[in-house]
Amino acid sequence: MIHYSSSDRSFHLTNGRISYILHIMQNGQVGHRYFGKAIRLAENTSHMNEMSYRPLTAFPDENEFLFSTEHQRQEYPSPNAGDFRMPAVSIRQGNGSNISDFRYQYHCIYDGKPALSGLPASYCESPDEAATLELHLHDAITDIELTLLYTIFRDRCCIARSACFRNGGAPVDLDTAMSMGIDFYDSDFELVQFSGAWSRERHMITTPLRAGVQSVGSVRGHSSHNHNPFIILKRPDTTEHAGESYGFHLVYSGNFLSAAEVDTFGVTRVVQGIHPQNFCWHLVTGESFQTPESLVFWSDEGMNGLSQEIHTLLRTRVARGYWRDRERPILINSWEATTFHFDEEKILAFAEKARDCGVELFVLDDGWFGRRNDDTAGLGDWYPNLEKIPSGITGLSRKITAMGMQFGLWFEPEMVNKDSDLYRAHPDWILQTPKRQVSHGRNQYVLDFSRPEVVDCIYLQMEKILSEADISYVKWDMNRSMTEVYSAALSAKRQGEVFHRYILGVYDLYERLIRRFPHILFESCSSGGGRCDAGMLYYAPQCWASDTTDAHERLLIQYGTSCGYPISSIGAHVAAVPNWQTNRRTPLHTRANTAYFGAFGYELNLHWLPEEEISQIKEQIAFYKQNRRLFQFGTFYRLQSPFTYNSGAWMSVSEDGMQAVCGVYKTLNRPVCGYQKLCLRGLLPDVKYRITGGDKEYTAYGSELMYFGLLISDASSSERRPDMRETCDFDSRLYVITAELEG
Ligand code: DGJ
Repeated sequence: MIHYSSSDRSFHLTNGRISYILHIMQNGQVGHRYFGKAIRLAENTSHMNEMSYRPLTAFPDENEFLFSTEHQRQEYPSPNAGDFRMPAVSIRQGNGSNISDFRYQYHCIYDGKPALSGLPASYCESPDEAATLELHLHDAITDIELTLLYTIFRDRCCIARSACFRNGGAPVDLDTAMSMGIDFYDSDFELVQFSGAWSRERHMITTPLRAGVQSVGSVRGHSSHNHNPFIILKRPDTTEHAGESYGFHLVYSGNFLSAAEVDTFGVTRVVQGIHPQNFCWHLVTGESFQTPESLVFWSDEGMNGLSQEIHTLLRTRVARGYWRDRERPILINSWEATTFHFDEEKILAFAEKARDCGVELFVLDDGWFGRRNDDTAGLGDWYPNLEKIPSGITGLSRKITAMGMQFGLWFEPEMVNKDSDLYRAHPDWILQTPKRQVSHGRNQYVLDFSRPEVVDCIYLQMEKILSEADISYVKWDMNRSMTEVYSAALSAKRQGEVFHRYILGVYDLYERLIRRFPHILFESCSSGGGRCDAGMLYYAPQCWASDTTDAHERLLIQYGTSCGYPISSIGAHVAAVPNWQTNRRTPLHTRANTAYFGAFGYELNLHWLPEEEISQIKEQIAFYKQNRRLFQFGTFYRLQSPFTYNSGAWMSVSEDGMQAVCGVYKTLNRPVCGYQKLCLRGLLPDVKYRITGGDKEYTAYGSELMYFGLLISDASSSERRPDMRETCDFDSRLYVITAELEG
């Protein structure tokens, strides 16, 4: 899959679907030629690099007016020597300078893909699934070796990239060390970013690229609700189902920068990696620094095609372990039902009612530990509050498992309240800057996870509970952004490392727990979706996507999230109305129809509901159990964007194409609506399907459903029609499409 051509010192990575071509430039640095649809291998592709004189250019060689780094498309550019664009690397040296000149030394090509020590990354299960190119470069002045890693997957339109520095010289400071850089030939792109806020995560925002830099990032210590590390560059005419787009996924959960810069000549540079703000890694002689991984995807099958590539890779070659391919249990979570206010009796009654409805997993959220009765106390004390739960977590878990349900527990391992035994014993264990105020968020402080002894202490507390009780699920929460970041355990020179060391500490704790408890299902969470990133998926195969459980808001959040994350990873629950975030009332069936497209569950007290709603919930659960694999692991298609239209639609199709479910969600009911139909995707043209869930049940061939469409008109009209179900604002339909065996 990786071919080296000595005639023009180029490397062509191809799997027949994509090609990625890079080369060694005349100055010995690494240049970029092409990334996109597979092109035929050729002995020489040097003509792809145009060189011609441009005014106001800085040239490294006297008497040479054609070669300048400003005009070269590059792979991992450095600053201050002719290239005025964003660098991928910047190294502050002992004399204060920051120029580096990484020149090709040698390369290795091998089957498979190496793991990145201490960091999440994509992987392969057998060496023939992927091939890796290691480019070894060297900067003679600093004596630093830089290894650029490129892995191409045999069956995926994706290249995994990262960089590793090894310092053979005097100590330096890595001020910028991105995971990747790439210079596209042109700038005929739109940038799609996934931005928002707490409770309004990952809304799709599309803007044309323009001259200059457009970027999203986080300096909050977690990937954040505000911007997601995943971005897309799409051609302006690319739609959901046709056209070219590129996806950039950083496999990392801390501060990040994803940026695109269009230069004067219309070249687009993309860099992605750890955000350089507040980052500075002091690299001493003999030490190495490995960047996180960036996954770069390509598709010419529209945004859906890109998402499907991403879903498959993230679901099967980033997520790991026992739960990776397994259907996820239907859970009920106590948070919106009880917040901190419960006792054992209430929990048992709650669980029993859920069990009677068919729920498979009961999750006890916040409030069970230390002296936690509100958010001012208890974080850090991971032992049960026996006043609330006299049987302890072990006793309670056994009572719940004896009911025939699994039991899950909430932790917020990285945080501490001042009112806790842990803080009283170790007030110096929080992130705080000497002599400065230390800000709180939700009355809590951030434990210094860059310190191994802090991680050890939390590990031991969690290990005790998880080994003693019957626990099959853990929700790992993280409820504030980081401020006054400084570690008492590190020297002044190393303070720029704290953010990254912190995340390495989080990964270390996760790794130890999943190794010790391989059968526990972990769900990541950060006040909802503040840490919904590919890095987390390596440890926790699902993520609580948002604290908003309102069905309409969830439609937007899940629609945006689906662009970059597999459906099985999106935690989605049915909650009570009026919704506690929006005060909105949506029909119970719409709440379920939305949450079905995810790791499904409930987040309400079933005792609040009238019997007829309980019956509806029983039906929902039975239905989901029958169709769970289709929802969680089917091929997902976005059909209509709720960001653009008064309704949204999506569908999921089974691997063999014989079964599908399609959700159609209305925002506002409109009088005298036009007729509406929806062209489905992914069905088998010649197979006859039975369609249920609409006003009429009927059969139609796949070709009709895909090319004529599925009729979705409803009773929105000034006159009532007896043959149509009444409709309302936030109504929805779930169409079940099942192949009919003929003959
Ligand atoms: C924030 C989470 O997103 C919620 O689901 C819940 O677990 C609360 N934290 C508990 O404090």
